[in-house]
Amino acid sequence: MAPVRVLIVGAGSRGSGYAAWIRRHPEVAEVVAVAEPRAEYREPLADAHGLPADARFTDWRDAAALPRLADAALVCTLDDAHLEPALAFADRGYHLLVEKPLAQTRADCEAIVEAARRNGVLLGVCHVLRYAPYTRLLKEVIDSGRIGEIVSVDHLEPVGFWHQAHSYVRGNWRRAADTAPMLMAKSCHDLDWLRHIVGRDATSVSSFGRLKHFRPEEAPAGAADRCVDCPVEPSCAYSAPRIYGRFVAEGRTGWPLDVLTPKPDAESVAAALRDGPYGRCVYHSDNDVVDHQVVALEFEGGATATFTMTAFTRARPRETSIFGTHGEVYCDGDRITVYDFLTDTSETIDVATANDGLIDSGHGGGDDALLASFLPAVAAGDPSLVATSGEDALRSHLLVFAAEQSRLEGRVVPLREYTG
Ligand SMILES: NC(=O)c1ccc[n+]([C@@H]2O[C@H](COP(=O)([O-])OP(=O)(O)OC[C@H]3O[C@@H](n4cnc5c(N)ncnc54)[C@H](O)[C@@H]3O)[C@@H](O)[C@H]2O)c1
Repeated sequence: MAPVRVLIVGAGSRGSGYAAWIRRHPEVAEVVAVAEPRAEYREPLADAHGLPADARFTDWRDAAALPRLADAALVCTLDDAHLEPALAFADRGYHLLVEKPLAQTRADCEAIVEAARRNGVLLGVCHVLRYAPYTRLLKEVIDSGRIGEIVSVDHLEPVGFWHQAHSYVRGNWRRAADTAPMLMAKSCHDLDWLRHIVGRDATSVSSFGRLKHFRPEEAPAGAADRCVDCPVEPSCAYSAPRIYGRFVAEGRTGWPLDVLTPKPDAESVAAALRDGPYGRCVYHSDNDVVDHQVVALEFEGGATATFTMTAFTRARPRETSIFGTHGEVYCDGDRITVYDFLTDTSETIDVATANDGLIDSGHGGGDDALLASFLPAVAAGDPSLVATSGEDALRSHLLVFAAEQSRLEGRVVPLREYTG
C-alpha cells in the first residue's frame, strides 16, 4: 500500500512530534506539506522531510485554498483553532486527525463531526490514552470477565507540580477562555478513558474544584514577578530556573524545553526564562484554570466512578483502582495487578515487558499507537480501524462539558440534558 500523504497543520509540539514519527515510519506515511506561521518551527520540519517551497505554508488557510495536497490533515493547532481548519480540510476531502479537544463548545464539536460525515472522510481524535498498550492490556483483562462486572472505579491524575506550573500556570492552557477549562484541556482524556474502560456511557455527573494555590494571595513574602529577579527563588518549589535547569542538566532537548525555545540549550533556555512567559512567577501569572478538581460519575447500569485531578503531586503516571463483582484491579501505568476473590490470588502484569518496551514512548506508547492505527485506517479507507471516532469522542466531550457545568453551577447534571 502506498504511504499515506500527510499535511501537518501547526508544527508546534504535537505537530512536530507526529511528523517525527512519520519520518521514522516511511512505509506508513510521508509528510508532503506543512502549515506553520513560526519559521523557526516550520523550516526545520520542512527541511527534514525535504519539502519543496510550495509545500511550506505560513497559514493553514493558504493550504486549504488549494486543491487537495494530501490524503490526511493532522490538525495540531491550539484548542481555539481546531474548528476552522477541521471544517475547511474536511470540505476539501482530507481525512482528519484532530488534536483534542475537538473544539471549545458543544456546537463546534458537533459541527466537526458533521463535516466529516457530510464529506465522507475519516475523523480520528487524539485520545491517546485509549491507544496506550497499557490501556489495551487493561481492557483485555476487564473484557475477559476476570473481575466480574465493574461496580466502582477510582481514578487519579497526578498532574505533577512542575507540569501544572509549565502548562496551566505559565503556559498555553492557563486561561480557560483562551483554550479550554482544565477538565477539557488535561482531563478529557481521563473521562474518555473511564467511558472506554467501564464500557458504558455516563448518566449523571457532579464536580467540584477551584484554583487554590497559583494566585497572588499565596505568594511568599517578597516574591518578584520573574524568577530571575526573585529574592525567594532558592526556596520556591516552582522556580522556573530550577525546574527547567534540571532538564537542561539531563541533556533533554524535547518537551517541555522545546516549548520555551526551538533549540534548547543552557543559553537559549536562560534567555527564554529572562524574557518569555515561562520565566514568570507562578503566583503572578494571568492564569485562571483550576489546580484541583474531582468528578463523580454514575454510568448506565449503576456503576460509579470518581476522578481526581490534582497539581500537587510528583509528576507520574495515572493510577486507577477498578472494583468488580469478582475481583479487583490496581494499575499505575507500569503494572496491572489483578486480585481474584475466589482464589485469593494476585497476578501482576508488567506492561513494559508485555509490550516490547513500547511504553517508553509518549503517553505510554499512546502517541505511537494512535498514528499506527489512524494512518492505516486512512490507507485502507476503513473507519473501524480508527480507535476513537468523531462520534465516540463527541460523547466524551459532552461528558466533560456536563462535568464542568456541574462544577460551575453546583448541581448534579444528568447527561440526558446533553444527549437528549
Ligand atoms: N493528545 C494529547 O495528549 C495532547 C497533548 C498536548 C497537547 N494536545 C493538544 O494539541 C494541540 C496542539 O498543542 P501543542 O502543544 O502542539 O501546541 P503548540 O503551541 O506547540 O503548537 C500549535 C502550533 O500551531 C501553530 N499555528 C498557529 N496558527 C496557525 C495557523 N494559522 N496555521 C498553521 N499553524 C498555526 C502555532 O504557531 C504552533 O506552532 C492543542 O489543541 C493541545 O490541546 C494534545
